[in-house]
Amino acid sequence: MGVINMEHHWLPFTNNRLFREEPQMFARAEGVRYWTPEGDELLDGSSGLFCCAAGHGRREIADAVHKQLLELDYTTHFQRAAPVSFELATRVAELLPKGIDRIFFGSSGSEAVDSAIKICLAYHRARGQGQRTRFVSRAWAYHGVNLGGTSLAGMVNNRRDFSGVTCDVVHMRHTWTEEQRFSKGQPETGAELADDLEDICKTYGADTIAGVFVEPIAGSVGTIVPPQGYLQRLREIADKYGLLLIFDEVITGFGRTGSAFAAQEFGITPDIITMAKALTNGAVPMSAVAVKTEIQQAIIDAAEGDRPELFHGYTYSAHPVACAAAIASLDIYRDHGLFERAKAFSPTFLDQVFGLRNLAQVSDLRGYGMISGIQLKPSDKPGLKGSIVQRILFNEGLHVKATGDAIIFAPAFVTTEDELEQMTAILRKVLGRADI
Ligand SMILES: Cc1ncc(COP(=O)(O)O)c(C=O)c1O
Repeated sequence: MGVINMEHHWLPFTNNRLFREEPQMFARAEGVRYWTPEGDELLDGSSGLFCCAAGHGRREIADAVHKQLLELDYTTHFQRAAPVSFELATRVAELLPKGIDRIFFGSSGSEAVDSAIKICLAYHRARGQGQRTRFVSRAWAYHGVNLGGTSLAGMVNNRRDFSGVTCDVVHMRHTWTEEQRFSKGQPETGAELADDLEDICKTYGADTIAGVFVEPIAGSVGTIVPPQGYLQRLREIADKYGLLLIFDEVITGFGRTGSAFAAQEFGITPDIITMAKALTNGAVPMSAVAVKTEIQQAIIDAAEGDRPELFHGYTYSAHPVACAAAIASLDIYRDHGLFERAKAFSPTFLDQVFGLRNLAQVSDLRGYGMISGIQLKPSDKPGLKGSIVQRILFNEGLHVKATGDAIIFAPAFVTTEDELEQMTAILRKVLGRADI
């Protein structure tokens, strides 16, 4: 492979200086494996970026994309449409909790979140409550990087440089507490942290608040699993004060918890669900916002004459090629029973993760379904251990996502027991080192 000119591509969420000195690249992928341009093999411990639930290089998706490109490569969805997007919307609605069945498409999780914000505002306005313009989010939250999502963000590095352009958001506390350390599954304590929402309603006036956004499992901060009873309590308070409850399921959607959506897994029906990533198994960018029937109906009913009901949409909303990739992905999930496989494999997965407990670098372990967070002992500069360990793991043959002082281990649902053991053997080797 020739020399690569790395001057021009500005990598996202990357220390570009460091990367140019020591590039870590992938040139090929198949199943749960990546290969570098030099031909070195790595195991994929994070399903790409929690996208590739069915593993890499799925021929069914490639074939569907190829066929769609030749049949209808593009159409706008402003006053036009293609049958394929209606087919996909129906398939997605069938997987969702009953009643959440109106689907708006975008191309990224960030677009889904910002679309959900605008749908909330439009809904309240349509019902004569246009003064509800404030949102509630949570410390340590990640809701993408567009301006709405940046406003909701509770991870300091993702907000700090961008103040002044954000919308009005009040934050609840995050749900991790010291006594939850090394809880497997849902922690038993912490449900009362949901009462922050009630306090905010009383302090700011519930009638100024449009909705509350939460990740059912906070993924990007390092997998924070909701305490037992916490999400139920949020639902009750949102109902009491007329707030919309939005579950951001960009990571948890499509089987990661062992159910199609975390909403079903935890038995809570939100008003809106955002999703992306595994919708197309990561193969083509696509996201969606699913809303309750009556939310869409209220917005439709309020529209005057022939004008569009929602002045919002993207050039690539419901891109036919993305729709084809998504339908092929949903076919794979269904035909191979992959959500069921995620549920059945989860105890083995979590046992392997919790087997890392006594290693030199590990300070906490968390996990649910097929996602886990490994909290690392910080170095003298807190927040950097994750990326240091991530680089070492790469050189040892394992790709994972890092965040602050944590790594997120969330392999594909097709990972075999043997492959899982190979992955945890690498984790054991690296996290057992005292000298990092
Ligand atoms: C919960 C959540 N929301 C939104 C996003 C943003 O998605 P994207 O990177 O596709 O914009 C992410 C990405 O990880 C996410 O985890």
